[in-house]
Amino acid sequence: MRWSSAVVLSLLHLCLSKPLSRRWDDIAEKHSWAEIPRGWEYYSDAPADHMFEMRVALKQNRIDDLIANLMETSDPGHRKYGQHLTAEEAEALVAPRPDSVEAVDAWLEDHGISPDNVSHRTGGGHWVVVRVSVAQAERMLGTKYNVYRHAASSEHVVRAMSYSLPRELHSHVDVVAPTTYFGTVRSMRKTSFLQPNAPTLEHDMSQELHVDAAVPSSCSSTITPSCLRGLYNTTNYVPKATSVNMLGVAGYLGEYANRADLQTFFRTFRTDAVGSSYSTVLVNGGLDDQSNPGVEANLDIQYTTGMSYPTPNIYYSTGGSPPFTPDSQTPSNTNEPYLDWLNFILAQSTIPQTISTSYGDDEQTVPPDYANTVCNLFAQLGARGTTAFFSSGDSGVGGGDCRTNDGTNRRLFQPAFPASCPFVTAVGGTTRVNPEVAVSFSGGGFSRYFARPSYQNTAVSAYLTSLGSTNSGLYNATGRAYPDLAAQGQGFQVVIGGVVQSVAGTSASSPTVAGVFALLNDVRLAAGKASLGFINPLIYANGAASTTSCLVPILDAALMDSLLGLDGTLSLVWVPPISRNCSKSFETRD
Ligand SMILES: *[C@@H]1O[C@H](CO)[C@@H](O)[C@H](O)[C@H]1NC(C)=O
Ligand SMILES: *[C@@H]1O[C@H](CO)[C@@H](O)[C@H](O)[C@H]1NC(C)=O
Ligand SMILES: *[C@@H]1O[C@H](CO)[C@@H](O)[C@H](O)[C@H]1NC(C)=O
Ligand SMILES: *[C@@H]1O[C@H](CO)[C@@H](O)[C@H](O)[C@H]1NC(C)=O
Repeated sequence: MRWSSAVVLSLLHLCLSKPLSRRWDDIAEKHSWAEIPRGWEYYSDAPADHMFEMRVALKQNRIDDLIANLMETSDPGHRKYGQHLTAEEAEALVAPRPDSVEAVDAWLEDHGISPDNVSHRTGGGHWVVVRVSVAQAERMLGTKYNVYRHAASSEHVVRAMSYSLPRELHSHVDVVAPTTYFGTVRSMRKTSFLQPNAPTLEHDMSQELHVDAAVPSSCSSTITPSCLRGLYNTTNYVPKATSVNMLGVAGYLGEYANRADLQTFFRTFRTDAVGSSYSTVLVNGGLDDQSNPGVEANLDIQYTTGMSYPTPNIYYSTGGSPPFTPDSQTPSNTNEPYLDWLNFILAQSTIPQTISTSYGDDEQTVPPDYANTVCNLFAQLGARGTTAFFSSGDSGVGGGDCRTNDGTNRRLFQPAFPASCPFVTAVGGTTRVNPEVAVSFSGGGFSRYFARPSYQNTAVSAYLTSLGSTNSGLYNATGRAYPDLAAQGQGFQVVIGGVVQSVAGTSASSPTVAGVFALLNDVRLAAGKASLGFINPLIYANGAASTTSCLVPILDAALMDSLLGLDGTLSLVWVPPISRNCSKSFETRD
């Protein structure tokens, strides 16, 4: 009796429900975590009716061509050097194949999402954005969304521990977000810190001395634009291409650059720039709160403008959607800061030729599929002719306790992302003058996701030979090594809320280097040449061979001169990836 009624019920069920479309039944896991990412805790189940924007990144059909093109156009010896792509040319290369579009549309339709429901397609159609409920997303991705709380910041996000896709879609889809990437703007470690006990300058002694080539001894403990301009030999260069050249700073939710502080900074440290400012571009709901100056934002903008004046500077304030409030009924939480900013900037027909970003995550906390998608977007930025600088991080060979999050809890050096992406230029930190040496906290290492790019083969092989067996097993010798360049990173004099404070971090190094390269771009643009674009092949090709010391001058003066037509050159240094005393780094990391 029980048996037959069960049969009847299931037959009834089969008749009443929509026939299952076999095409999408066979699902396979796309990414999963072994444990809840460090720093986060389960808070509650996600409300089934919570709506959010799901982004589906379709496989970029000709991404290999885009990368090959990037390597040619950034190789100073290649006939295509400097032939950057327009937005349309780049989008043609990253556009998905028609059958990828067809497959994803059919899958969405199967879940009741018609093409009309797709709110937008960006990046040559490579991103599909649809508004879905948690319940719907859970059905589509064979997953369970929860609310997770970040203990340190009390921020809440809606994320999943794993997600799946129909097997057929794996060859068409790079990543779906938000799913398993937990890093959010507030947990992304800003790579700067105040130095409460460090000396500060009330006014700029180094500027008063009017030093041209020589660098005053005060620059050993306190860094000002005059110190950096002296050290990197840009003091006498007067920018000429200011109608076309631009320098951008990428900032994220809650970090606001302050215009009044910039004037105080100029009055104190760069008097010829008084009265000039930067422009602010708000991205995806970003704000411009002038009552809330950010240490990171002020450091970034004061030193990019301080180095590159009168080159126009832009501060991008990227908001993302408001953070998820667990009690709110209408929250919208995507919080994918890199993606928001990258999709915005890549859609512009004109992009600043130099961009500095001082944020990052431990690479292992970024899902590989997500990291790969973001890294390819940086390749696209380079192909468009932009140099993207990232600070290399402030935790030496790794953050936290260096334990792996793959369930094995091993202790390994932990690289940082996006510094580990081979298509960005990672900037490490130095300190002191004559000689300038690596600063202890400067981040560096070898990617566990990205293979060593050929442009750094010679430099890294030589470095590994000199390293011998030291730290072997703790780092991935076949991975992409970083940083690529280094510059001063300690004792930076920054005006915050009207007061001069001393700030340290590779966050200081990245805007400094960006400022110098904005001037190099100025040289080229003023001469009617293309912007430098992706510089890694250039700087490694021109690097000195010596790896016996901790610091290797990477920019050869004569080569840079002939390349750029520049009188004299800058003296930035290369810090090999793990040049610090690593056993010490293990103990002193935050
Ligand atoms: C899709 O669009 C239709 C009509 O435009 C609308 O009625 C429906 O609610 C939308 N569905 C979703 C999931 O947004
Ligand atoms: C080392 O890097 C390669 C990429 O070159 C990667 O495929 C591999 O998984 C990494 N190995 C380890 C142990 O992290
Ligand atoms: C600095 O630049 C000047 C020209 O502005 C040049 O003459 C000088 O050689 C450069 N110094 C160094 C150390 O490169
Ligand atoms: C590293 O630092 C420790 C303690 O600070 C020291 O004993 C050791 O000799 C250092 N090792 C190297 C290779 O410099």
